[in-house]
Amino acid sequence: MKELDIGMAITGCGSATPKQIMTNNDISHLVDTSDEWIYTRTGIKERRLATNNLSLSDLSAEAAVKGIAMAGLSPSDIDLIILATSTADDLFGSASKIQNILKAENAVAFDLTAACSGFVFGLITAAQFIYSGVYQKVLVIGGDMLSRWVNWSDRTTCVLFGDGAGAVVCQRTTKNNHLLGFAMYSDGKQNQSLNLAYNFQAKFLKNGMVVNQGNYQFLTMKGKEIYRFAIEKVPEVIENALSKAELTVDDIDWLILHQANQRIINAVAKKLKIPSEKVISNVSKYGNTSAASIPLALDEAVRSGKIKSGNIVASSGFGAGLTWGAVIFRWSIEV
Ligand code: ACO
Repeated sequence: MKELDIGMAITGCGSATPKQIMTNNDISHLVDTSDEWIYTRTGIKERRLATNNLSLSDLSAEAAVKGIAMAGLSPSDIDLIILATSTADDLFGSASKIQNILKAENAVAFDLTAACSGFVFGLITAAQFIYSGVYQKVLVIGGDMLSRWVNWSDRTTCVLFGDGAGAVVCQRTTKNNHLLGFAMYSDGKQNQSLNLAYNFQAKFLKNGMVVNQGNYQFLTMKGKEIYRFAIEKVPEVIENALSKAELTVDDIDWLILHQANQRIINAVAKKLKIPSEKVISNVSKYGNTSAASIPLALDEAVRSGKIKSGNIVASSGFGAGLTWGAVIFRWSIEV
């Protein structure tokens, strides 16, 4: 990517997960499955699930507070809040509610929906606002509670997902652009592979007219199709983002993929010839937290001291839509 007068740095990160833990053994009391099946097929051991008194907005705000503190800012410094989610508390969106919880009174806030690619798409969107000079301090949150929409009687899906939130603060910098390259794609032809669809239902009104008032169905997924899609497209999109950054795979210090399945993570790393020591994974603890999974993994890796200032991170999200994207960035909390 060409040198810009204005660049972007990620200056803080934070994450939050519900306290309630559901292990694979706990799930085996719900559906016909086992710890052995789940772990060998997915790498997942347990996941966190929100109880009825925890909203997505509250969990996301908790992650955001930590990210804003790491950036050394206060909520009133934030210009823009992008909430990447598919499971907002309100169909009209939850970003404004988070703005209110944070008391980020100077920020405009909106939701962005791109399933498990949501965080990567949100980060790229934030960069465009920063490059254009419109906003200087942007909070990007990836938060999802798919436990609300999973059929807890369907063993092919309920074992995979968990709830969580992660956030980063992106800031304008005139020194170096730390977002080194990106690429993003959609393919609606494969839309039927992974859905949380609205069920159309005719409702006849007293005046004889008809409106459509149905409800949302549970999440449905053609697992093998998604698996094949991920293994094919994720290495490609990372290579594409790397070439825009004028970097090669050897320049990557850390790979953080959407945490859907350890087998997908391993297969992508193998295809790209990235050694396992450079691969960040926490899928065993949280399952697939959709838009939250990348910032959650990033936050844990930064706070544990794995990712250090100056390290180059390649990250890729993929999922429903179908959508997929990648970002290459330098971790640096210096503006
Ligand atoms: N426990 C025990 N047995 C099970 C379970 C379960 N939880 N689920 C399915 N099975 C059975 C099946 O019924 C099948 O039995 P059969 O052979 O008698 O018919 C057998 O196990 C194998 O099932 P497959 O579906 O072939 O298993 P597969 O190896 O493909 O693994 C999985 C399934 C883990 C879902 C895999 O396909 C996968 O990871 N796909 C990608 C999913 C993904 O990453 N989705 C998230 C996308 S991100 C987003 O946007 C939300």
